[in-house]
Amino acid sequence: MINIQIPATSANLGAGFDSLGLAVNLYNYVGIEESDKIDILSLDGTTVPTDASNLIYTSAKTLYDMCGKPLSGLKIHQKNNIPMTRGLGSSSACIIAGVYGANLLLGTPFNTDELVDIASKIEGHPDNVAPALLGGIVTAVFEGNHVYWVKQEIFRQLKFMALIPDFEMKTSDARECLPETISHMDARFNLSRAALFSASLLQGKYENIREAVQDKLHQPYRLKLIPHADDVFEKAYDLGAYAVYLSGAGSTLMAIVNGHDTCFASTMREYLDNMGLNGWQIKELSIDNQGTKVVF
Ligand code: HSE
Repeated sequence: MINIQIPATSANLGAGFDSLGLAVNLYNYVGIEESDKIDILSLDGTTVPTDASNLIYTSAKTLYDMCGKPLSGLKIHQKNNIPMTRGLGSSSACIIAGVYGANLLLGTPFNTDELVDIASKIEGHPDNVAPALLGGIVTAVFEGNHVYWVKQEIFRQLKFMALIPDFEMKTSDARECLPETISHMDARFNLSRAALFSASLLQGKYENIREAVQDKLHQPYRLKLIPHADDVFEKAYDLGAYAVYLSGAGSTLMAIVNGHDTCFASTMREYLDNMGLNGWQIKELSIDNQGTKVVF
């Protein structure tokens, strides 16, 4: 059995809707091997489809189909540490597990660029699948069937504090609440900030990133669906966060804080509890620069 480790991801990063994402050190683990039937086991009690509709299976099968190789079944063991439908790339992790695992089982017929293209086509946008595969911070444009991407490693000492609500936000629902069109002024607002974000993160100009995560494409619409999001943003900034943004399509709010910080998580915990948000989890994460890999 091939065992794979896939990182969680945080996409959009404020203004970079559908184009920026980064990988963090929270991992799903998937074991995969060929079998004469579909045999899927969730190792952590998370309910997952155990038939041919399982996302790891369907993603793997895409590669078998592309190679014209019949697939009678797969044995898949999945350990899901990435919370589902919370904006941390849980479905992208499944897609990457499937395509990366199948590529190995098939003798690596596809290179990394092709895997990014295939995974992005399955997901519909590249900003989660690309960093899940590649690690680091990824800037990506999906045009036609091809993703133009750059991965950059981040060695800066930063913590990514994931503030994870106790309710799901399905990406499909969170995309439906967005407007069809935006003004030229709003487009300019976003593209300047998306460009500023990655350049500032890479150069360590953290004083820029609070402005860089401002956005007019998705956060104003989606944050309305998260009770107390504004209060939590304000508290995170009070506690010294460099930037706070909605992770992916939500519901997680991500605060970027100084790597030497020691009190953000405990003070935020107290705050959330006082607000009655006891069900929210806080996970202290950092950048994963490696992406998906085989583990033993
Ligand atoms: N860019 C996507 C969105 C990320 O915001 O809808 C979620 O997969």
